[in-house]
Amino acid sequence: MTHETHFGGSQDVEPEFARAVIAGLSASHKHLPCRYFYDAVGSELFEDITRVPEYYPTRTEAALLQESAAAIAARTQPGTVMVEFGSGSSLKTEILLAAMKDLAAYVPIDVSGDALREANNRLASRFPKLKVLPVVGDFAAELPLSGDLARAPRLGFFPGSTIGNLVPKDAVDLLAQFARQLDGGRLVVGVDLRKDLSVLTPAYNDAAGVTANFNLNLLTRINRELGADFDRRGFRHEAVWNEQEGRIEMHLVSRKRQDVHLLDHDFSFDEGERIHTENSYKYTLEGFRKVAEAAGWTVTSVWTDARDWFSLQELSRA
Ligand code: SAH
Ligand code: AVI
Repeated sequence: MTHETHFGGSQDVEPEFARAVIAGLSASHKHLPCRYFYDAVGSELFEDITRVPEYYPTRTEAALLQESAAAIAARTQPGTVMVEFGSGSSLKTEILLAAMKDLAAYVPIDVSGDALREANNRLASRFPKLKVLPVVGDFAAELPLSGDLARAPRLGFFPGSTIGNLVPKDAVDLLAQFARQLDGGRLVVGVDLRKDLSVLTPAYNDAAGVTANFNLNLLTRINRELGADFDRRGFRHEAVWNEQEGRIEMHLVSRKRQDVHLLDHDFSFDEGERIHTENSYKYTLEGFRKVAEAAGWTVTSVWTDARDWFSLQELSRA
């Protein structure tokens, strides 16, 4: 068993985090990048979201993985390096890993060192022979593979519809970057689909308030890591469908007129003013095919559930 631990911690991102927060709160329409949701608490809250009854994506995608894992594994040569982008807990990944024969290594990449550490411990006991090489950092960065692993065939895995958290133009750029990183290898990607708002809206407004906590935790993180004085109770969670853009938007809405201080900057909020914290695009199969093709990929297999709520798609180089 070889488990390398380059976990680092959330502190690693602080200067970049500060710049991103100041830029986002200085804009006329205030916004914050959603990748900063995932500190230790945020990663746990995301896992809690995946278990609330209203959040259908995780369990739907897990069922699709059960259905497709054997076919994906059959097309994967022994000695392949499987790279997962935004792996989080790697829980669903276990379905794919169990079907794979003789992987050279599994490389989970995530900005959350805490999520990677927990996943690594679990994988070490379930797959003791698997070489796991966790990488803490931005999944768009070059892969730190060396020696024989640098020459091995690659398979990419990008589940969870994390691709939906990027605006389509950035999604094209990221998929093109993954193509370079995978060097001719295929990419299996989870893509959430358009559906009735009676299903979609509750998935981002769960009754237990877990998604609200996940959204508000960003303010707690900014307070802790950047010394800001956000009053969490002064904001409320809002998740709304934007029909024109085809996305769920999450916002934090100021409950009152208030000022917030952060590293020599003052930010004022009117009552009702929003901070836009996340987009979650919902694609049609045709819409996602265009995004994949613009990035130089061909969609070679698609698995969907009986209700067409979610898709797992295998992309190959065009
Ligand atoms: N793949 C898991 C987790 C999805 S949550 C699943 O399907 O359940 C999104 C994950 O992507 C989080 O773990 C978050 O920390 C990670 N992430 C978001 N932006 C990232 C980035 N730019 N680089 C690396 N990881 C990122
Ligand atoms: C990780 N990502 C695809 C999730 C989503 O559904 O957009 C994050 C999330 N936001 C609110 N709930 C879950």
